[in-house]
Amino acid sequence: MLDKMRDDENHYKNLVDGKWIDGNDNKTITIYSPIDGSELGSVPAMASEDVDLAIETAKQAQRHWRNVTIDEKAEILYKTAKILLTQKEELTDLMMKEIAKDRKSCASEIERTADFIRFTADTAKNISGESIPGDSFPGVKTNKISMVKREPLGVILAISPFNYPVNLAASKIAPGLMAGNSIVLKPASQGSLCGLYLARVFQEAGVPAGVLNTVTGRGSEIGDYITTHRGINFINFTGSTEVGKHISEITSMVPLLMELGGKDAAIILKDADLDLAATNIVAGGYSYSGQRCTAVKRILVIDEVADTLVEKIVSKMETLKVGNPLEQDVDIVPLISEKAADFVCELIDDAKEKGAKLLVGGTREGNLIAPTLFDNVTTDMRIAWEEPFGPVLPIIRVKSKDEAIQIANDSEYGLQSAVFTSNINEAFYVANRLEVGTVQVNNKTERGPDHFPFLGVKSSGIGTQGIRYSIESMSRPKATVINLYEQGED
Ligand code: NAP
Ligand code: G3P
Repeated sequence: MLDKMRDDENHYKNLVDGKWIDGNDNKTITIYSPIDGSELGSVPAMASEDVDLAIETAKQAQRHWRNVTIDEKAEILYKTAKILLTQKEELTDLMMKEIAKDRKSCASEIERTADFIRFTADTAKNISGESIPGDSFPGVKTNKISMVKREPLGVILAISPFNYPVNLAASKIAPGLMAGNSIVLKPASQGSLCGLYLARVFQEAGVPAGVLNTVTGRGSEIGDYITTHRGINFINFTGSTEVGKHISEITSMVPLLMELGGKDAAIILKDADLDLAATNIVAGGYSYSGQRCTAVKRILVIDEVADTLVEKIVSKMETLKVGNPLEQDVDIVPLISEKAADFVCELIDDAKEKGAKLLVGGTREGNLIAPTLFDNVTTDMRIAWEEPFGPVLPIIRVKSKDEAIQIANDSEYGLQSAVFTSNINEAFYVANRLEVGTVQVNNKTERGPDHFPFLGVKSSGIGTQGIRYSIESMSRPKATVINLYEQGED
């Protein structure tokens, strides 16, 4: 498929109105691999008039798409999932190079996306409306009934992040399409080759011209224009809290679904299975070098079991493989950019200066940061609160579960938390008090399975994702009220 997408100079184009086009002024962005700086290709840097065209096209196409039967839409999605799987090898290679994710995780992202797309089609086919009798409300006569169905919203702007360039684009596109909307996808610049690839797969599966369009370009340059565009009816954004807050400040009267940053805590109580906790902490904290919103980002452990837990985590960290994902099967990969690696190092330096005990790692080679673990982290350290989006975990020792809950809740974020305990009452005690979208009991924090609700509170997001929730978020109820009259009645 790649051969059909790029020219001899490795230039990729945007999908607008069913055609692959460049921007009006032919400006481009070059995409380099975070692994070795090699040039992977270029994409158009679309300007405001290109954005206008993509949105206008989407608006026109949606008028027809909304009336395509659910069954026909679903068939297109089933075909999309099928094509995606046939392209797994090629797309895995592209993704590894573009975002430096390890081979196994790239392949599983693609498989998971195919499952997601299929499940979305199945779910949409089974969403039915409801009819509400009027007489359940006091004083209403029996002759009223509200028939409620779901209507699309119009044009969805889908903005995706770098870390799941296929999955977090598809998880906006597929439910958006099934709800009868058209889509304008603005992928992360680092990740845009994968985003365009996904668009090509949808197109090959039969998504009609104009129903799915792409706009590449730096968020810092076209972001404000596209998010405040009058033709956009809904914004579905995944990315940093900083950008998410900015979008919510400059937009008005446009509904938003936002999945943002996190500082997910793993809380380990006295009676926890410490082997289980250590395994989950290492897998949850360090996979893809911690570049996941749901990565475990701090450990809050009761003092009495802290030494044993630390020993187990350190020993499991020895099995983490660090290096170049193109050369070997690794867990720890180079971070997405030099800027990202610099930021992580700032947090490491701050922790060291303020007296945290460095147990493992703390070193850097280019953008590759060794898996790092700090003990005796205190609440005056930046690593206790800030999201590194890198392979660094702080251990904060606490005296009680209430202290753990308080520190967990003092965060500006509220995505997920995990609690490890063998006592169900303790699990509920903690879970009921945590200010987050999801609490995992005896497991690492994670988004899937993808039909579960996934949401962040506080600075971690607005609205709810998850297959059925996403379809509902990108549609609205439409009520038709039937007023029945008996013959002869006025
Ligand atoms: P990011 O820098 O916020 O970028 C996300 C997307 O927003 C990219 O497509 C980016 O485009 C675009 N963008 C940047 N500035 C914009 C603006 N002014 N207006 C509109 N769009 C703009 O985030 P990232 O570095 O890709 O991802 C890492 C962050 O995302 C972390 O904080 C992580 O926690 C969060 N995240 C959250 C979830 C979740 O589900 N809660 C999932 C994944 C990631 P460019 O690439 O062109 O700048
Ligand atoms: O960072 C992306 C976020 O949605 C996490 O997904 O599956 O890694 O928990 P997951």
